[in-house]
Amino acid sequence: MAGTVILTGANGSADSNTQNLRQVIARYPDAKTSIYQVDLANLSAVHEFASKISKAVETGEYPALKSIICCAAYWNLVGDSELTTDGYDKTLQINHIAHVALVLRLIGSFASDGSIVLFSSIAHYRKPNAMTSYLPDIPDDIDQFNHPPASGDKKDRGFQRYANSKLVITTWMYPLNRYLQQNQKFKNITAVAINPGGLGDSRAFTSNTPRSIQLAQKFVLKPFMSIIQYLADPTFRSSAEAAKDVIKLAVDEAYQGEHGYFTLLQKDDSDPITMDESVQQRVWRKSLEWARITKDNTALKNVMK
Ligand SMILES: NC(=O)c1ccc[n+]([C@@H]2O[C@H](COP(=O)([O-])OP(=O)(O)OC[C@H]3O[C@@H](n4cnc5c(N)ncnc54)[C@H](OP(=O)(O)O)[C@@H]3O)[C@@H](O)[C@H]2O)c1
Repeated sequence: MAGTVILTGANGSADSNTQNLRQVIARYPDAKTSIYQVDLANLSAVHEFASKISKAVETGEYPALKSIICCAAYWNLVGDSELTTDGYDKTLQINHIAHVALVLRLIGSFASDGSIVLFSSIAHYRKPNAMTSYLPDIPDDIDQFNHPPASGDKKDRGFQRYANSKLVITTWMYPLNRYLQQNQKFKNITAVAINPGGLGDSRAFTSNTPRSIQLAQKFVLKPFMSIIQYLADPTFRSSAEAAKDVIKLAVDEAYQGEHGYFTLLQKDDSDPITMDESVQQRVWRKSLEWARITKDNTALKNVMK
């Protein structure tokens, strides 16, 4: 692997996951890699990081960005909604708002043929789901997402918050592509939202989850990953397999210019509500406000509509 990779993690270098990451990147001495600590639950930290990276691109410390992979995610299936210091639901902020801020703050630092990879999920569909009895949706007043009522039904409501965040970011991807295309400077930059499949070995199943989910992962999902894939869900696989597809969408020339919703590497239809332009505009405007994007801090000036 050659090239430049800028990685971020929520925690500092003492964190065991960050240490694992360091061991992995040490195997690729030809690549220029950096790891930054950025807490996506803190918008000031996100903006500070974006300023740092755009400055580094400007001064030539880093090359223009070829791709941004917005894969960070959070859920809490054992507690009520938590408000961040910015006043947003933590799930929505980490999964959506922080990525909006990063993409729109950094867009001026992109190469002309850059790509944006957002993370959706099968959970974004407004369809019954084994994880929750509450469907995701986009209400008229989407600020409601930041004030969900406390509930006795922690797992189902927690998963609904996660699904809402995935529905919102999937919807946001469509006007993002539209505004990019309308802008002479950015017309060859494209965005995709990928459902990477069910990831049997994901760390997500081990934190903020009920014991039943942790046990299901340990004794069923992880050991029987390929059988589940074969018999029940062709998208079920390991994180490593999903990561290879994500990298293809991000930097492989064969996927250059792809945009829209993907299930694995297949172009797919996202939930019909994501195609409703009035809903897209509602999500777009509110996302700018949530992420504190103004015409003064993004190079995509035509977004202020
Ligand atoms: N797991 C699945 O079955 C599944 C299915 C469909 C879609 N997805 C989507 O695929 C993506 C990857 O999922 P995954 O299962 O690999 O997730 P994961 O193992 O739980 O990893 C989540 C990542 O998000 C980062 N993160 C969480 N909170 C953060 C914060 N406050 N600030 C900065 N970074 C933060 C974590 O950083 P640290 O390493 O620093 O903790 C970690 O790298 C997510 O967008 C997820 O929604 C997953």
